[in-house]
Amino acid sequence: MPTKVDFNDRMLSLGLARVAEQAALASAKLIGRGDEKAADQAAVNAMREQLNLLDIAGVVVIGEGERDEAPMLYIGEEVGTGTGPGVDIALDPLEGTTLTAKDMPNALTVIAMGPRHSMLHAPDVYMDKLAIGPGYAEDVVTLDMSPGERVAALAKAKGCGPEDITVCILERPRHEEMIAEVRATGAAIRLITDGDVAGVMHCAEAATTGIDMYMGSGGAPEGVLAAAALKCMGGQIQGRLLFRNDDEKGRAAKAGIEDLDRIYRRDDMVTQDVIFAATGVTGGSLLPGIKREVGYLTTETLLMRSKTGSVRRMVYRNPKSAM
Ligand code: FBP
Repeated sequence: MPTKVDFNDRMLSLGLARVAEQAALASAKLIGRGDEKAADQAAVNAMREQLNLLDIAGVVVIGEGERDEAPMLYIGEEVGTGTGPGVDIALDPLEGTTLTAKDMPNALTVIAMGPRHSMLHAPDVYMDKLAIGPGYAEDVVTLDMSPGERVAALAKAKGCGPEDITVCILERPRHEEMIAEVRATGAAIRLITDGDVAGVMHCAEAATTGIDMYMGSGGAPEGVLAAAALKCMGGQIQGRLLFRNDDEKGRAAKAGIEDLDRIYRRDDMVTQDVIFAATGVTGGSLLPGIKREVGYLTTETLLMRSKTGSVRRMVYRNPKSAM
């Protein structure tokens, strides 16, 4: 039973970093091994084990899938010792399973936690996403604009030309038109093969990553995780669920979603202050990957609290024998 304890985000965040770290360490031996499922399973097992050590009465709201398709960390699974604050948890033990299996950049372990009922229960469908970093007026770009209009509006707000804007997009056949339209403006595109949580997060550190805007469709659960990250880092994200058939609409109904056309903004997806942790598995422009040395594995974790806007980078050198 959840106790009436406040969401102690300050102390819990340190435990959350450990959860992300351990999931990454567990997947380390599977980087570049060509086995996506094994890499994911190792991260899931470790994340679940560590979560269950935390003094929380947690419920997984964004997880590995519905109960009948995911035996662990499924949506609705209760995690933690059960003593402590009632919390919502959104997680992706390995965001970028293919990136990990192929040792390609930007695979992360990701987890966010907030008070109970603080996160959108996004069904496992696609979401049309649009994100930019901090420092811009609300709605300077919107989902209702065409890709070309978004580039023009952002360039105007940034005080530069379209050729100084870089947009990140998932390389998929469904994005071909969007890619052509963005390129026609003169803007550059960084295509990614997977991992749109990292893609969105890149916008929040544009000076470091070189990415100004993220657009395109990807998983809705990843949209909520990205919203949690931007709530901590600053920046805007808009998302609209996309449905390909009645089964997917049924998933939305099951999640309690009535307005299927609604545009969710960052604070609609994550309604209260949250904490967020991500550990780099393979290296990228946001986080370095796991470093191997004889006898040691070293990880770097980004740990953030939206209440304070604090961003910690924690480097953890782990003696392999301890694993
Ligand atoms: P996994 O780590 O579960 O493989 O997801 C990777 C991912 O690229 C997400 O980041 C993204 O939201 C989604 O898959 C895109 O889906 P699709 O591959 O169907 O376009």
